[in-house]
Amino acid sequence: MSKSRLQEQILELETLIRARYPILYIVSWEERKVDRLMSHIASRRSKKVYTWSYTQGIQAIGAPPDPSKAKSSSTRDPAAALDHVLVSNESAIFLFKDFHPFLTKNNFAVIRKLREVSQAIKNSYKTLVIVSPVLELPVELEKDITVIPLELPGPEEFAELLERIIREVRDNPNVTVRVDESSREKVIKAAMGLTLSEAENVFAKTIVADGVLDSNDVSAIFAEKQQIIRKSGLLEYYDASEDFGEVGGLEALKDWLAKRARAFSDEAEQFGLPAPKGIMLLGVQGCGKSLCAKAAASYWKMPLLRFDIGKMFGSLVGSSEENMRRAIQVAESVAPAVLWVDEIDKAFAGVSGGGGSDAGTSSRVFGTFLTWLSEKQSPVFVLATANDISNLPAELLRKGRLDEIFFVDLPNDEERHEILRIHITKRKRDAAKFDLPRLVKAGHGFSGAELEQAVISGLYDAFYAGGELSTEGLMVALEETVPLSRTMQEDIDRLRAWAGTRARRATPVAEADMADESLKRRIEF
Ligand SMILES: Nc1ncnc2c1ncn2[C@@H]1O[C@H](COP(=O)(O)OP(=O)(O)O)[C@@H](O)[C@H]1O
Ligand SMILES: [Mg+2]
Repeated sequence: MSKSRLQEQILELETLIRARYPILYIVSWEERKVDRLMSHIASRRSKKVYTWSYTQGIQAIGAPPDPSKAKSSSTRDPAAALDHVLVSNESAIFLFKDFHPFLTKNNFAVIRKLREVSQAIKNSYKTLVIVSPVLELPVELEKDITVIPLELPGPEEFAELLERIIREVRDNPNVTVRVDESSREKVIKAAMGLTLSEAENVFAKTIVADGVLDSNDVSAIFAEKQQIIRKSGLLEYYDASEDFGEVGGLEALKDWLAKRARAFSDEAEQFGLPAPKGIMLLGVQGCGKSLCAKAAASYWKMPLLRFDIGKMFGSLVGSSEENMRRAIQVAESVAPAVLWVDEIDKAFAGVSGGGGSDAGTSSRVFGTFLTWLSEKQSPVFVLATANDISNLPAELLRKGRLDEIFFVDLPNDEERHEILRIHITKRKRDAAKFDLPRLVKAGHGFSGAELEQAVISGLYDAFYAGGELSTEGLMVALEETVPLSRTMQEDIDRLRAWAGTRARRATPVAEADMADESLKRRIEF
């Protein structure tokens, strides 16, 4: 039997402890799991385990919290606690919980002391383990501390947890539990991506509610998971109802996506097709990149998970690695799924350049993402969009990471015609009653979003004037708008030049060349 991920993790930790790595830093929310891991390792190596917390100071693991200690314990002070570790001559693991607030920049005394501890205990049988959901790693300590991300629980751990809860509930004379065996596995799969304590709450809640573990619980757990994930603010289930009929132009891209509708099926796998990895949609703002992401997911009938990578870097820098791995696991647990990384360029601004410890975190997190991207086996299709290339790290664009890079340009004549028709029709007007060729000409240089805005503003004007939407009204709206492409001409030219040799066009080339001569000239400069 192959080793479970939990066993592998235990072995890895044990090896580090045996090799006398002085300070380990486990990034995790799951203190109880870390408690158990450490106790397990300690008993195998005949070591003691002590815990430290700001409220209790140092005490033997498992000792109940003692409110009177809150005032008296001499080891509550972080520096005093480290002194205690220094002078102790036991063979022991010291598990420091939530030590991260004392590792921020201005705690120079604690940081210095930690360096000294690191030096001093290298040749002892003592190990200092920090466990915290937040990674706070001062530069001074980078060489002394080994950071270990704790894996999210795997199926075996959820199975064990579920067993325990069912047993506990069964012992209660007021509850009868009926277990529908076929649901057991589905329940476990539905929990993937949660932490053990989150899963414990969800399992208990759904089982106790009706005394039955059945397929209803699968959807309840799924719903809970959506809640929890939404709260974390990283992934969002996006209920996509858009379809390709709403996307004007971009025929080559639509074709590519449509061809892969069945690529995630068992049939395709048996046929020998590898599951598509993902694509990057690069191009001018407002030209339908996000729209295509939504349309693709609903066409493929796969859940669309919007991954707010910018938020991840922005708000929770310290625990970003944890969050990244979590987002990936959640996506894999609902696979086949589309992982939509919108405006990835904004998130990765500063990954390649810039200094400081934030850049360090960002590039580690980015590394996690890239590694996953090249090694992933699960049918999670990554759909990244970007408006600019200057911030995009080259590693992301390297062949093999993604299937294709598509360049989404401003719509050509034919595409503007389509887009206008779509948006006029969407507003319940008959497109045949408008002089579309005239509008197409007036809308030269407009993005899809700007054309849509013109239709909307034309509608407003007509409404207030007590009239009806007309070609004339739309002409006025178009003439009043200065399209972004006029003010951002240089940026667009730069993007085109870059994409010219490196990306595939979302609009078929022949069509683009024939339809828009001026565009062709600009591309070939
Ligand atoms: N090719 C298009 N066809 C139809 N509508 C479009 C197109 N491009 C943009 N739009 C309209 O503009 C809106 C914004 O476009 P979006 O997809 O968010 O642009 P991007 O992600 O490329 O910046 C869309 O929701 C849609 O209403
Ligand atoms: Mg967008």
